[in-house]
Amino acid sequence: MNYHKFDVVIVGAGGAGLMSAMQLAHNSSIAVISKLYPTRSHTGAAQGGVAAALGNQEEDHWKWHMFDTVKGGDYLTDQDAAEILAREAIDAVYDLEHWGLPFNRTPDGKIDQRRFGGHTRNFGEGPVRRSCYAADRTGHMILQTMYQQSVKNQVNFFNEYMMLDLLINDGQACGVVALCLRDGSIHVFHAKTIVLATGGYGRAWRITSNALACTGDGMAVAYRRGLPLEDMEMYQFHPTGLYRIGILLSEAARGEGAYILNNEGERFCIRYAPTMEELAPRDMVSRFIVQEIAEGRGIGGKDYVYLSVAHLGKEKIDAKLPDITDFARNYLNVEPYYEPIPIQPTAHYAMGGIPTDIEGRVVVDEQNTVLPGLYAAGEVACVSVHGANRLGTNSLVDLIVFGRRAGKHIAAKWLPEADFAPLPANPDGYATELVEGLLSRANGKGETQERIRQELRDEMTEKVGVVRSETTLLAMQQKIAELKERWANVRLMDTSHTFNTELMEVIELGNLIECAEATVAGALARKESRGGHYREDYQKRDDANFLKHTLAYRSDTPGQPDLRYKPVVITEFQPKERKY
Ligand code: FUM
Repeated sequence: MNYHKFDVVIVGAGGAGLMSAMQLAHNSSIAVISKLYPTRSHTGAAQGGVAAALGNQEEDHWKWHMFDTVKGGDYLTDQDAAEILAREAIDAVYDLEHWGLPFNRTPDGKIDQRRFGGHTRNFGEGPVRRSCYAADRTGHMILQTMYQQSVKNQVNFFNEYMMLDLLINDGQACGVVALCLRDGSIHVFHAKTIVLATGGYGRAWRITSNALACTGDGMAVAYRRGLPLEDMEMYQFHPTGLYRIGILLSEAARGEGAYILNNEGERFCIRYAPTMEELAPRDMVSRFIVQEIAEGRGIGGKDYVYLSVAHLGKEKIDAKLPDITDFARNYLNVEPYYEPIPIQPTAHYAMGGIPTDIEGRVVVDEQNTVLPGLYAAGEVACVSVHGANRLGTNSLVDLIVFGRRAGKHIAAKWLPEADFAPLPANPDGYATELVEGLLSRANGKGETQERIRQELRDEMTEKVGVVRSETTLLAMQQKIAELKERWANVRLMDTSHTFNTELMEVIELGNLIECAEATVAGALARKESRGGHYREDYQKRDDANFLKHTLAYRSDTPGQPDLRYKPVVITEFQPKERKY
């Protein structure tokens, strides 16, 4: 067994992980474990910006940002978390600026700001310029900036190590077990503190904006160790994915004035959302698109509509939207200077995840009991600051605000009094058995992973998409039970210990199935429509019965976790009907 010991082990080298690391680098021994080379983390795919009420372009207030976050989340947002997000976004963005992030600038040298969906002035009067941005590569710039700072501050990186297990002993988290992809060795990281910052699980769907690495590893590892997953039924579909491929075309395009058009050339969003038009929140715009398609107004009667930027002119397109217009050229052979771009909703973001409190500490039940030593931040976590639907640009804020809070809390409150809990007996037992078990089935009987993966992604897209119903969800629940059984007998073709990407993908597939299980069970039980969760058999929001968070605990019955519920934190804004 390869043994390492650090005060803090952070799993994941995206925005949340690196932001936590930056708070800790000077005073403690820390290690960041990453499945990827850090600058390949999925934070780099975030395009349009990071929201903060700087007021550089027009009047803005953190309270308006808080309100938009609560209303955008269809009132499932915990309002104490939304207040922190909106208030602390401002300092967190200035931290990034001071570390060298090359934001676009106003003529007088301030950080430039653009419009984004659901962000409004004066509690909903109309769009406001709140998104701070670096062209359409804001996440990429954040990642590069923070990685440079981490290297400068001598953070230890274990790159291309995949977490397989979380160690908990005596009621305290005390380590993680990881597979070194380079040589197949198993490593135990003993720590006083673990921060999970492993991102989302969009690869459970076929049409997705998520990178190959987004396979819910942190969520699945925690779930297998008996921790709950919160509000997993709240999954976001971004309205403007490249047709059939799912690659993100930033909402920044609409923030800069792009139109969404049906086959009659109509800007149909205006009909559904007269105030915010194309800049209504994502859950709504995705549903508008699905409805237009269902009513026969998709382009050529097919399952897509158009995003049009041509009227913005070459100069603005090149200055503000260079990457996404290149995606259209490269992947669909469309020239956005002149032609509209085929788009459809794409699986984009998990509002749910591992429950935490506002300091980033993982909580394990309806009473918010803290599990000492374990923190989570970013998409893997559910604070819950996004409620039932996240606003665009609030993900990058979530990473930097709650990544920073977790790091600061660990440094100031936890580490001064914490000690190393002893490792459990045989700490690498589960991980070694998993890896050796899979490798020992190499070249044996049974099916390989491709069919299982494809069926999971196809069926999730069909049955757990923008619109769900009891019929589709029950069918998916059965499918998941079947896929779990088939996964348990999966056969590998590669027996090697050296960069065995097939082994990694099989483990990732197992993780995706766990996340899908919690998603479907939560969706089946939530007999209402709210935010990203739209049930055609229960089309109304039902605050009397469902203004509450779902907690899903893994059970022994495949497909059927145990569900419990906890209340939503409401401080200022009473639930109202959402109109845009
Ligand atoms: O549309 C976008 O640029 C995505 C941003 C986000 O998900 O926050």
